[in-house]
Amino acid sequence: MFNTLNAMPADPILGLLTQYRLDPNPNKVDLGVGVYKDEVGHTPILKCVKHAERHRFETEDTKVYIGPTGSPHFNDLMTKLAFSHHNPAVITNRIRTVSTPGGTGALRVAADFIKRCRTDATIWVSSPTWANHNGLFEAAGIKVKTYPYYDHDNKSLKFDEMKAALAKANPTDVVLLHACCHNPSGMDLTPSQWDEIITLTKNIGFTPLIDMAYQGFGEGVDEDAYGVRQMAAHVDNMILCSSCSKNFGLYRERIGACSIVAKDSPSADVAFSVLLYVVRCLYSMPPAHGAAIVETILDSAELTQEWLAELAQMRDRINGNRSMLVEKLKAKGVKRDFSFIAKQKGMFSFLGITPEQVARLQTEFSIYMVDSSRISIAGISEDNVDYLASSIAKVLEE
Ligand code: LMR
Repeated sequence: MFNTLNAMPADPILGLLTQYRLDPNPNKVDLGVGVYKDEVGHTPILKCVKHAERHRFETEDTKVYIGPTGSPHFNDLMTKLAFSHHNPAVITNRIRTVSTPGGTGALRVAADFIKRCRTDATIWVSSPTWANHNGLFEAAGIKVKTYPYYDHDNKSLKFDEMKAALAKANPTDVVLLHACCHNPSGMDLTPSQWDEIITLTKNIGFTPLIDMAYQGFGEGVDEDAYGVRQMAAHVDNMILCSSCSKNFGLYRERIGACSIVAKDSPSADVAFSVLLYVVRCLYSMPPAHGAAIVETILDSAELTQEWLAELAQMRDRINGNRSMLVEKLKAKGVKRDFSFIAKQKGMFSFLGITPEQVARLQTEFSIYMVDSSRISIAGISEDNVDYLASSIAKVLEE
């Protein structure tokens, strides 16, 4: 049976983790996977999370099953965090949310849900998009098409081309949008561009699926949810996939959420029953620990303040790293203009160098990044920026 199998290549992002860990070079730099790192290259557990875990350790009194939805209280808190409590879609009770194993789990639940809505479903993703989007939707039997998004030559958004492509989508299609901190380009829609996309969504009638994996890493928890909130207030149907991996630093706990916005409350109930069926067939029910931590934090005004301060610290460090790299490259005499890095948002930017230059950075300098030259900005620090900038300067020179 198994001898019909062909070996699969390592995941383009996660495969880098293993290579980096095995590299004995003491100067190695990890700009691969999108995880937050502090000044010494460590991914810390947030203090608010430690506090919440202590509380949970003392108060948890059962490990009995919760059910496919996960904790209803967590789902409610996540709905309000994403959409805000005064959103018309929240007030009219048009949203149903389930807890999922991370943001990827949310996307897979959404994919199976879409497939149940339409067996011939097509989803449009930005070019480029997160490397796992394509495989994930194709695995659920959904056809994937792309719309223009990032202009590699001008380091800008191909907004007119994006709109022209989406104007040709069918009303039965789904369009995936990144809420903020576009992965991999760091290039976000402005609020007025969001408004235009929302108008287009209403005119054409396709269903938006918004992926929000970095709420709070761009400009702030509320600012980053602008598109999500406006979209939900203006369209009949929408799907949101969110993640607590980055903003709560709960990566390995695997906790996120999938929310369905329907045209009214009875339709939302029907959609919810389908969601529960999908979850039951996929993994039966989500893990509880991460959800309980987020719940404890968001239930406490004090822990919420602590969380927001820690989130701001992570965001500020990443933004500081952006400017630090741009300055350092200039100081190393690099003529090419890298100032766009300081203007982009969130965890990632493309350096805009060739795959050969990326390979040289890895083999000669032990600097790891995705082949596309996407760098995870959090991997930069005051200790490695000098080495990083001189190495980039060297590969650009020759
Ligand atoms: C990334 O893009 O690096 C992160 O979202 C981690 C992942 O799962 O790929």
